[in-house]
Amino acid sequence: MNKSRLAAVAGVAVFGLALAGCSGGGTAGGGNDATANLTSRGPITYVQGKDNSNVVRPLIDKWNAAHPKEKVTFKEQSDQADQQHDDLVQHFQAKDAGYDVVDVDVVWTAEFAAKGWLTPLTGKMKIDTSGLFPSAVKAATYNNTLYAAPQTSDGGMLYYRTDLVKTPPKTWDEMMSMCSIAKANNIGCYAGQFAKYEGLTVNASEAINGAGGSVLGSDGTTPTLTTDKAKNGLDLLAAAFKDGNIPAEAITYQEEQGRIAFESGKLMFLRNWPYVYNLAKTDGSSVVKDTFAVAPLPGLDGVGASTLGGHNAAVSVYSDHKATAKDFLNFLLTAENQKFFATQGSLAPVRMSLYDDQELITKLPYIPTLKESIDNAVPRPVTPFYPAVTKAIQDNTYSALKGDKSVDQALKDMEAAIKSAGS
Ligand code: GLC
Repeated sequence: MNKSRLAAVAGVAVFGLALAGCSGGGTAGGGNDATANLTSRGPITYVQGKDNSNVVRPLIDKWNAAHPKEKVTFKEQSDQADQQHDDLVQHFQAKDAGYDVVDVDVVWTAEFAAKGWLTPLTGKMKIDTSGLFPSAVKAATYNNTLYAAPQTSDGGMLYYRTDLVKTPPKTWDEMMSMCSIAKANNIGCYAGQFAKYEGLTVNASEAINGAGGSVLGSDGTTPTLTTDKAKNGLDLLAAAFKDGNIPAEAITYQEEQGRIAFESGKLMFLRNWPYVYNLAKTDGSSVVKDTFAVAPLPGLDGVGASTLGGHNAAVSVYSDHKATAKDFLNFLLTAENQKFFATQGSLAPVRMSLYDDQELITKLPYIPTLKESIDNAVPRPVTPFYPAVTKAIQDNTYSALKGDKSVDQALKDMEAAIKSAGS
């Protein structure tokens, strides 16, 4: 990021904080339930994690030019999923009317909806979801009610170095057998997101699902972690840490640290989301611009399964200007703006027709791989108690990867903690 953009980001962040400060602490605006202010219009604030791909500002500029009396201000959070979550929780708890439209990670929908913080998109707030990925609509729905507009989807992909690997590995074993090439080139072989945060839940679930196991059974609530398949999946990750095929520093990686390592040529394989594609192609500091491609994630016996990621835009029940907020949701969903998410940020549109758009396919070669990833992606548990469930997965996976707990014990403890989270 250049200096002027940094300054702009800092400015907006400070402004956003000041705004939040004014409206928090008991002076929340008129709306304190889901049915208030449904027809009222005016300026609103949109809250989202760090705009790594610079898609949000241009979209907001476009909206503001067309809606001078209903301007949107961008409050940019950090780039870390857990911090974004906690920031939203604090502002909802303070009934902050300064957070009108918020970006909701797919795994937070149930929790926020159950707590009564999201305006149901019914009646006057109804939006049209036809043509959107059913998985994305489902991830914005709780108890049969739509609580948010799907905004971008997300599927994990394998970034690999085309100068070092001619054909990408289809299985985990194949990938591990290629690590000698990385060693010979004095670089790390594979990394994903292994710091103790939401990304670790994503990666642990992929390891378990990729080995034919599952986190929950078909009822969607009973943990199924003490199985041979789940153990096999987590064993593979733990073993790769142990033998160095995953470099030791990857235990601190969130998405951005992995992206930076890959862009600076220090990694041969990287599991990450589609946003990395455009940045690795265009960042001034990327030394792999012309020497990487993407492939589906490898699994045990063939292509693996990504964890379903993605983000929804929801209207806070405390917003004073819900009619404007709803229009902004629809604006994010137009085919034109959905296409912009892909062209500008290499993000995954939620509008399915765009995956057959010839212009996009020609321009963005990762589009078919991304579609495959999303089509086969496995959702994380849907529960209002998600924070406790994800903590159980993260804490125990982390201990197993660090070698502080056996994989067996970690899975037993994970299962017990998930059971007690839901009871
Ligand atoms: C991405 C995904 C999101 C996931 C997060 C983890 O933002 O879209 O679903 O929870 O990464 O870091």
